[in-house]
Amino acid sequence: MRSLVLALCASAACAAPAEMRAVRAHAIGGPEVLRIERIAIPQPGAGQVRIKVHAAGVNPVDWKIRERGFGRGISAESPWIPGFDVAGTIDAVGEGVSGWRPGDAVIASLQRAAQGGYAEFAIALADDVALKPKNWSFEAAAGLPTVGTTVLRYLDLAGELTKGERVLVQGGAGGVGSVAVQVAKARGAWVITTASARNAGYLKSIGADEVIDYQASAFERRVSNVDLVFDTVGGETTGRSIGVVRRGGGLVTIAGRPDMAACEKAGITCVGGGPRPGAYGDQLRALVVMADAGALTLNVDRVFALEQAAEAQELSRAGRTRGKIVLSLFRVEAP
Ligand SMILES: NC(=O)c1ccc[n+]([C@@H]2O[C@H](COP(=O)([O-])OP(=O)(O)OC[C@H]3O[C@@H](n4cnc5c(N)ncnc54)[C@H](OP(=O)(O)O)[C@@H]3O)[C@@H](O)[C@H]2O)c1
Repeated sequence: MRSLVLALCASAACAAPAEMRAVRAHAIGGPEVLRIERIAIPQPGAGQVRIKVHAAGVNPVDWKIRERGFGRGISAESPWIPGFDVAGTIDAVGEGVSGWRPGDAVIASLQRAAQGGYAEFAIALADDVALKPKNWSFEAAAGLPTVGTTVLRYLDLAGELTKGERVLVQGGAGGVGSVAVQVAKARGAWVITTASARNAGYLKSIGADEVIDYQASAFERRVSNVDLVFDTVGGETTGRSIGVVRRGGGLVTIAGRPDMAACEKAGITCVGGGPRPGAYGDQLRALVVMADAGALTLNVDRVFALEQAAEAQELSRAGRTRGKIVLSLFRVEAP
């Protein structure tokens, strides 16, 4: 067999690097800067794995980076593959990696990887990978890493959420919000959430105790004295949320920075800002345990082909996603 492989690889076909399809941005700008290209399949380095991507999650940060750069150095010389979330199968492992084998069905966060997941193959740090939830499709699983780890990284930053506490999740129907509703519920909290009327049934189905239609009336008229606000909306919603937290309670926002002076005046602990450092594997595994126990689901709102990445990002940008938008590359049915 070895001699056969060597013989095959002596041919001209083997000399050229194998290629894959990937979506890349060569400049900061609108959806038109995204191009589908054929590029060399990346090789995993030490401590890394290569994943054959079955599906890639789309997050608001993908189009924010495309529009604003965020220090990613996107240029004609340094094109950028978007996408921080993938689900697929391990295809190759780098030096020093134990615990992962080709063929393992996995999810991965690419937050710490050099390039993203809108591609047929992606390189992830082995520490940022977990087994795929057993009964989830690759599409649903691809939506989980960023939204799930964000909830686990932020939820307790203003004080640990405990059984019986009342939490208000601002934006419960979105990717992060829908996981926050379920994680808070699993911890025994009374979960109140804001959404438009069309999402009320969905939010009740994933465990929300009360759903406030934020378009019908100001949420401050419907809720007060909560122990914690978990805000995924940002803007004026963050500022207005300060007034519905009990003195001594907390407010965490993942979508901006709260007005700290106003928080202090209200006697509440506020936390906001960007991504938190550290490996993602432990949090991914905790999410998979919840998913395998039936305590966590993720709604796949729309599935696009890789070639439709620009359209997918524009839909995300519209801000009305129920759960997740996903790119599907190799369609594999769930077991
Ligand atoms: N700091 C971090 O580490 C981090 C990590 C992940 C995400 N983020 C940021 O967090 C935000 C949310 O992310 P995501 O992935 O959850 O976004 P998403 O899935 O696009 O959120 C869309 C949802 O927002 C809801 N929504 C919009 N305006 C609302 C309002 N005024 N009140 C209540 N709900 C409202 C919509 O519900 P209706 O259609 O019912 O209105 C929709 O379901 C984004 O800005 C993202 O960039 C930050």
